[in-house]
Parts: sequence; structure tokens; C-alpha cells
Amino acid sequence: MQIKIVKDKLAGGEAAFEMIKAGMANNAKVLGLATGSTPITLYDKMTASDLDFSNMVSVNLDEYVGLPASNDQSYHYFMNEHLFSKKPFKATYVPNGEAENVEAEVERYEKVIADNPIDIQILGIGRNGHIGFNEPGSPLDGPTHKVALTQSTIDANARFFENESDVPRYAISMGIGSIMKSKEIILMAYGEDKADAIQATVEGPVTNHVPASVLQNHANVTLILDEAAASKL
Ligand code: GLP
Repeated sequence: MQIKIVKDKLAGGEAAFEMIKAGMANNAKVLGLATGSTPITLYDKMTASDLDFSNMVSVNLDEYVGLPASNDQSYHYFMNEHLFSKKPFKATYVPNGEAENVEAEVERYEKVIADNPIDIQILGIGRNGHIGFNEPGSPLDGPTHKVALTQSTIDANARFFENESDVPRYAISMGIGSIMKSKEIILMAYGEDKADAIQATVEGPVTNHVPASVLQNHANVTLILDEAAASKL
């Protein structure tokens, strides 16, 4: 794992942007994208740049089950708001959280990933070490699947909803196995809240109790951290 310590999330977004730019100069065609507050500075940098993404495909990590794309807490909405409405891509894929048949949707989405092998995957990290919505206990080699969110994730996301009871209980997430197939992975983390998860990811054993720790087994991973997130290393 390579670790880059940056001053703040603005510098982190710039560092990730430069890596994407270099990857695209090197023929990267598919970006794996993430939601959450962490990648926003990267998306701001992408939208403010004159880099052309119209030949690029994006594949998002996850989506809540049951939220329509028009709901401002859905990940469809988030991606449109922060990136896709401002920077046209050739194609953008996000799991369909409204699919009536969730089993068929996870299979369809795994095929999307197989047809569009990810060159560069962007990741944030949950306070409990989750990546995408792969919560502790998820199989380290699994495909896209339906996930029951843990209480810690529900609590962390509750601030975005009017009531805690409005937070979806399920999501569709790329599996850890799907994520690990990406050629290159960039994980960003900012703030003290993430310091324990980062310490366990980098220095702990590879265990599904800390899903991000599996990244130790990937040949091309960069962690972009601010000092607070790196403070327990
Ligand atoms: C959610 C997302 C993750 C994200 C995490 C952290 O659980 N599914 O992809 O990494 O939140 O979010 P934030 O970046 O807001 O801390």
C-alpha cells in the first residue's frame, strides 16, 4: 500500500484527480466511483477541470434499496448532483435500488462490472472499516450483493435523513471480490473519525471484521489521508 498524507480534503481531491489524469493518459477507460462526503473534493476538481470524460465509463459502488433516484439521499441523485450533470461520461452505471427483483439486479450489476473492468476504483471508508457497503463480516471474495446495513452505518448516515427511521436498512453493493478486481484502487479518508479504521486497514491483520484490510492483498493501492485520519499509524 502506498500512503500519501495531504494537508486537507482539498489537497486530497487534487492528489486523487492527478492520479486519475495520469491513469487516463495511460489508457484507463473505466472509473469505479464512490459516494459519501469524502470524494466530493475530487468530483469538484473533476468538474472544474477541462479533462474530457466523454469516452469514459463509470461504475458506482452501491445504492440504497428502496430509494428512488429522485430522492436527494439516493446515490443516483448524489452522483448526478456532484458529477454526471456537470461532466458528461460515455456511460454511467449505479445499481438500481428500486429494482423489484433485487436478486436479478445484483446479477445484472455484476455483469456490468465484468463487461466494464474497472481501471481505477475510488473508495471512501466507513468508521467500521467498510468499503462500498461491505460491512464487517462480508466475505472478502464476494460479488455484488444485497446488504443489511449495520446499526453503526445507519447511525452515521442518519444525519442526512429527517428521522433515523427513514434511513434505508438495505443496500446493493459491489462485493469485495468485485472491488479487488480493479486494476488500481485509491482510498481517501479524512478526519479523526476514520483514524481507527485506517489503522486497522493498514496495520491490522487481513480480516473480514475490517473489510478494507483486504486491500493489503491488492498490488496497486494508494491511501490518500489527512493527518487526522493517519494519526494512529
Ligand atoms: C457510506 C458509503 C461508503 C462511504 C462511507 C463513508 O457508507 N456507502 O462508500 O465510504 O459512507 O462516508 P463519508 O465519506 O461521508 O465519511
